[in-house]
Amino acid sequence: MTVAERVIVALDLPDADGARRLVAQLGDGAVAYKIGLQLLAAEGPALVRELVAAGKQVFLDLKLLEIPNSVAGAVSAAGALGATMVTVHACGGSAVLRAAVDAARPYPRLKVLALTVITSLRDADLPEIGLAPSVEDQVLRLAGLAATAGCDGVVASAHKARLLKQRLPAGTLIVTPGTQAAGSPRNDQARTATPADALRAGATHLVVGRAITQSADPRAAFEAVLDEVRSCR
Ligand code: C5P
Repeated sequence: MTVAERVIVALDLPDADGARRLVAQLGDGAVAYKIGLQLLAAEGPALVRELVAAGKQVFLDLKLLEIPNSVAGAVSAAGALGATMVTVHACGGSAVLRAAVDAARPYPRLKVLALTVITSLRDADLPEIGLAPSVEDQVLRLAGLAATAGCDGVVASAHKARLLKQRLPAGTLIVTPGTQAAGSPRNDQARTATPADALRAGATHLVVGRAITQSADPRAAFEAVLDEVRSCR
C-alpha cells in the first residue's frame, strides 16, 4: 500500500463541480477519495464512475443499515461501480454483515468496512438508544462481530484504533476519520486526534475531509497529511 493510498480525501461537498475542482487541485498525488451520502444524493453515481475511470480509488460511504437482501444489492452495485471500499453498520447484525461480505466477493478490489459507533456519540448518549453507557464496549462488540462475519476492516476513531488493532485479526483494515492536524480548531468531533496519533495507534488509512476541502490551500493541506504519514512509517 502506498502512502497516498492511505490518505482518503472525503469529498463532503454539495456538488460534482466542486468535487471535480478539488480533485484537479490535488492532482495526481491524491489517489483515494470518499464519496458519501451528500454527494451521492445530489449527483448520483456518475461522479464515482468518473473518478474510477480517472484511476482513483473510491470509498463509497453508504453506511448501509438495511435487511440483508437490500444490503447485498447495494454492495453489489458499489462493486459494479468500481468502488474499493463500502461501509455497512455492524449494528445490523451478523446476517447483514455476512450478506455484505458475500455480495462483495465477485469484486476483489472491494473492501467491506464495518461501522461500529458513530464518533459523535459519547458514553452518556448510549442509554437513550438502549445500550450500556460504554462506547468502548459497544465498539469492541461490534468490531468482533464484523471480523467474525469476514469484513475486511472497520471504521474507527483514533482513540479506539489501538484497542482494535490488538483485538482484531492481523491485516484487518482500520480506517480512521475525525483526525485534525495539531493546532487546528476543534469542530464537531467528539474524539479528535492528529493523523500521526491515529497512525501510531494502528490506523491503516485516514479519512480527511474539511481540513483539506475547506483549506485555503487544499493541496498544501493534503501534502501536510501525506508528510505526516511518511514520518510515521
Ligand atoms: O471531519 P472531516 O471533515 O475530516 O470528516 C471527514 C469524514 O469523516 C466525514 O465524511 C465523516 O464520514 C467522517 N467523520 C466521522 N466522525 C467524525 C467526523 C467525521 O466519522 N466525528
